[in-house]
This record gives sequence, structure tokens and C-alpha cells, in this order.
Amino acid sequence: MCGIVGYVGREEAVPVLLQGLYKLEYRGYDSAGVAVLRPEGLKVVKTKGRIKNLEDKVQQVGGMEATCGIGHTRWATHGEPSDVNAHPHISRNGRIAIVHNGIIENYLELREMLTKEGYEMQSQTDTEVVAHLFEHHFKGDMMQALMDTVKDLRGSYALGILSADDPGEIYCTKRDNPLIIGVGEGENLIASDIPAIIQKTKHYIVLEDNQIARITPDQVEVFNAFGQKLEPEVQTVNWDISSAEKGGYEHFMIKEIMEQPKALRDTISPRIEGDLPRLEECGLTDELFHDLRNIHIVACGSALHAGLVGREVIERFARVPVSASVASEFRYRNPIIGKEDLCIVISQSGETADTLAAMREAKKRGARTIAIVNVVSSSAAREADSVLYTWAGPEIAVATTKAYSAQLAALYLVAIKAGLARGTLTEEEGKEYCRKINELPELITEALRTRPQIQYLASLYSNRQSVFFIGRGVDYAAAQEASLKLKEISYIHSEAYAAGELKHGTISLIEDGTLVVAMANDKALYEKTLSNVKSVKARGASVIMVTNEEVEPDPEICDFVVKIPDCDPALSASLSIIPMQLFSYYMGVYRGCDIDKPRNLAKSVTVE
Ligand code: F6R
Repeated sequence: MCGIVGYVGREEAVPVLLQGLYKLEYRGYDSAGVAVLRPEGLKVVKTKGRIKNLEDKVQQVGGMEATCGIGHTRWATHGEPSDVNAHPHISRNGRIAIVHNGIIENYLELREMLTKEGYEMQSQTDTEVVAHLFEHHFKGDMMQALMDTVKDLRGSYALGILSADDPGEIYCTKRDNPLIIGVGEGENLIASDIPAIIQKTKHYIVLEDNQIARITPDQVEVFNAFGQKLEPEVQTVNWDISSAEKGGYEHFMIKEIMEQPKALRDTISPRIEGDLPRLEECGLTDELFHDLRNIHIVACGSALHAGLVGREVIERFARVPVSASVASEFRYRNPIIGKEDLCIVISQSGETADTLAAMREAKKRGARTIAIVNVVSSSAAREADSVLYTWAGPEIAVATTKAYSAQLAALYLVAIKAGLARGTLTEEEGKEYCRKINELPELITEALRTRPQIQYLASLYSNRQSVFFIGRGVDYAAAQEASLKLKEISYIHSEAYAAGELKHGTISLIEDGTLVVAMANDKALYEKTLSNVKSVKARGASVIMVTNEEVEPDPEICDFVVKIPDCDPALSASLSIIPMQLFSYYMGVYRGCDIDKPRNLAKSVTVE
């Protein structure tokens, strides 16, 4: 996720662009840049770091006075955060500047084609390819060049384009990424989100996929993909600016919960080709998975919980022993790990001290390492032998939701890749699982529809002192994440138990009114879990069942059923966790907790 802003009017463009970029910093903040059109041509200033760094650099450089420009705040995907990888990117002849949000999936192909034509890449980004491609197609007509350029692109994008040949104009287009046009008086803007335009206007047009817009100070023209002019609807912002960065949501946590279909799509779609996992670009070759003795997954907190799901799925698909360890324990227990083993570390931030230390220990002992990481060029990403990025975008809420879900998706792909490489999955089985993974974003959207029911349940149970989560197999792994989420957001004591283990002692804590959430999404284990559920119900527990089975509430079994979509049991954590994230969120809201910054917690734990 990145942020785009563009301005064309009668005022100084740069202050408007910077103000807009500050409002979009929540979308990414590892580098930023602006380009303006001066009488002598395009002038670009860009830098690694936050918008403040850019503002300082613009002042140092000077000479940026202009009334037309584009700006960008980046969250790195292709290429580390650096001055050169920051946007805008410039075409070879220096006459086109481009800002981009999204991922160009076929950029390697395009880069090869353009390199053969003599274009030299300055950066490691997919975006620079688009700038050169535009120049390649430009024969004097911006619209035609843009239509020809997007025909060659695969993937998702929102693009803002400034051309030295068409002063006083900005062009933009989009596919699967948001872009709006702010409609002002004597000035118009483009942006990824409303907060970036609201300083100037409350009127805006939402650009639809494949539409192209041309904006000048006095005119906004929108065209369809064939260049036919359209009459877009102009809407008016009717909400409070202070909630704007959260896209109208009350908290970042709920916004990020709702963003999960996109986080999954972005993580999965560039990695599946012809219904098979394509992970070689991330350094995950077949060879890596041959002749393995063990896989050790090492992580902390929710990332470890994703690892617990990963352990179930990798063992199922690749038939290799997998352990999932708490990173802070792993390094001090003289772990049995060596060059016959693979160590997978999972981390949203890539900076968690315990996880980094565990990875270094594994490396020191000769193991090969894979990092599943969300923050590009973070320490874990730099130090691991191979990196599989989760493209969840920046996660602002301290409690992770979308990064956890993206970690699950990445682990499923690793499991399929390992199964295929080791011959424990046939190609047909691998393809079938990839097709199922591709369906997950849609199924998550469906699971998010439990939101009103979950809000109601939270209103009933938010006064409870203690909550138990139970499940078997993948459901047990998901239960552990559900329990952590509830603890950290609502401060309610909670525990997760393997459903069959409760009877070995902990069942003595179940009394009248204790809330038990039972997760049962594997048909093969359903009857077994059901008997554990009956035993807590018989002791007076209130029970919520989270299941894909067609069951109704029953006085002997459960008080409420939260129905989630049916899917392969190996992948069910991706769906069962959704109502549980919502449950924690609403429990916290009803208890008046500080949702996005729970007490005592930090987003990145860089101390041991
Ligand atoms: C819980 C949470 C933490 C992190 C843990 C690891 O919601 O966010 O438990 O999962 O601190 O952090 P990363 O993934 O950055 O290594």
C-alpha cells in the first residue's frame, strides 16, 4: 500500500502535495517524493524515510515553485526503501514522471523487453518499468500512450502521470487500487484517499477500474478504457476529517480487519501462476525442500500462532516434521538444528529482537533460513537466506490482524511448494490447493459478514471475567490466536486449550456462565470436539460455536452458532479467525479500551 497525491491549479503545488502526503502517511512511510513541472522541465525530489525528511529535502534543494505536481509516500514492495527506489520515477528521456500504488506482476518480463530496447533501469522497482513503457508507447498523444501502456500491465495499480509535453495536466488511471479525483474551483487533485484532498475540496469523483482521467486546473475529464468520455458522479464528503485517515472507521484495528481480503489477494496473486506456487523469485526453490530433516518455525506472539497453523499444514502437505517454537525460548535451549534443517522465521515488523536472535542462532548452526516478513528491508528480511514478503501493507493498530492473515497465506504457499518439491503432493493436488487459496479472499469477505452478529455477542458477553477458546488441530492453533487477541484488546483473562486436553485438569475452572468459544471446522474431528463441548456445557458454560457445519443452537451443546464459510480444513484458520478478531475488537470497544494502542504493548518489540 502506498499513497498518491497530485495537484494542478493556480497555487504552489509542493505545499499542497506535502500536506496531502502527510495525510496519507498511514498508507506507507518508508520513502517519499514529489515531481513538479517547471518551465525548464520536470524537477524531482525524493528520499528514503518519512514525509518530514522529504519536506526538509525540498527546502534544501529549492527551486520547486510550480503549480502542477505529483507526490508519493511509499511502502516498499519491489526494491528496498531508498532514495533511488522512491517515487516518482522518470522515463529515460526525462519527460514523464510516474507515481504508482500496487504491484506490477509482469514487471520482469517488461523490464527484459525494455532493456533489449536500450532502456536502462536506475531502480529495482516495478514502477520504473511503467515510466519507460509509457515513453515507449508515447507518440505525442498522452491518452493513447496511457491506454497502450495499461494494456501491457498485469497486476494492480493506481497511476498518476505528469508529462513535460503536456504542461498543466495530470493523467491517472487505476485497477484494483483506490484513486479519487478532488474537484475544486480553479484547481483539481488526485489522491489515494479523501484526507489528502479535503484541505482543498469536499467534492470528489471515485475513479473506477480501467477508467482514465485527465485533469487540468479547470476541467476533469474521465474516459473508459476505449477512450470514450464518461459523465462521472461527483460526490461530497460528509464526515469528520479527524476520522479520515481511518477511511471512515473508528479504529485502525477494524479498518485492518476489513482490509484482509485485499491483504490476502496481494500476498497470494503474484505467487500463483498456472495454479501452482511461484516462489523462486523469493529464493524458495525446490532444492530447498529436498532432503530435509526438520523444519523449525520460530516467531513470537501472533506470528508464532500463524506458525502453529503453518506447522499443521506443512506437515500435512510435505510430510516432514515441523516444530513451532517461541523465539525467546528457542535460542537458549541449545536447539537441535543444523545444515539438514530449514528455519522459517515469521515476523510482521522483521525487527523483533527475540525472532532475530533465534534466526541468527539457526544460521550459526548451519540451517538455511526463510523469513516471512511484512516490512520490506527490515532486519529479518535482510539477514535471511530467502524472503517471502506478506503484502499486507502497513499495519498501524498494535494488535495484528491483516499481517497474521497474510502470514497464514504465505505459509500455505510454502506448504504446497514443499509438498510438490518433496513429491508428497501430486501436481493435481498442488493445483487444487492453489485454487482453494485463490478463493480465500472471497471467503474472508463472506466471513466478515458475521460482523453484526459478533457485535451483538460482544454486547452480551463483554462483562465476563474469563473466556476459554477450544479446538483441535488447525482449530486449536486458531484458538490460540483468538485468545491472545481477546486478552490484548479487551484485557479479559483468556486461555486457549486443545479441546481434548481440558478434561485433564482445567475443566475444574468451568462454572456457571464461564464463556467457552469452541472452534470446530474440521469434519474429521467435529464429533470429537462436540463431545468436549457437551462436557463444558454440562458444567454450566455459555458456549459459542464457530463452525462451518450446518448446526443450530441446542441447549445441550451451545448458546450461539457463528457460521463461517466451508473450506478445506487445512485452510480454515483463515476464516475462523475473522469472527474472533471482530469479537476481540467489539469486546474491547464495549469495555472502553484503547483499541489501537492497548496498554503495555508496542508494535515492534526490539528488546529481548
Ligand atoms: C499481537 C501481536 C504480537 C506480535 C509479536 C511479534 O497482536 O501483534 O504478538 O505478533 O510481537 O511481532 P512481529 O510479527 O513484528 O515479529
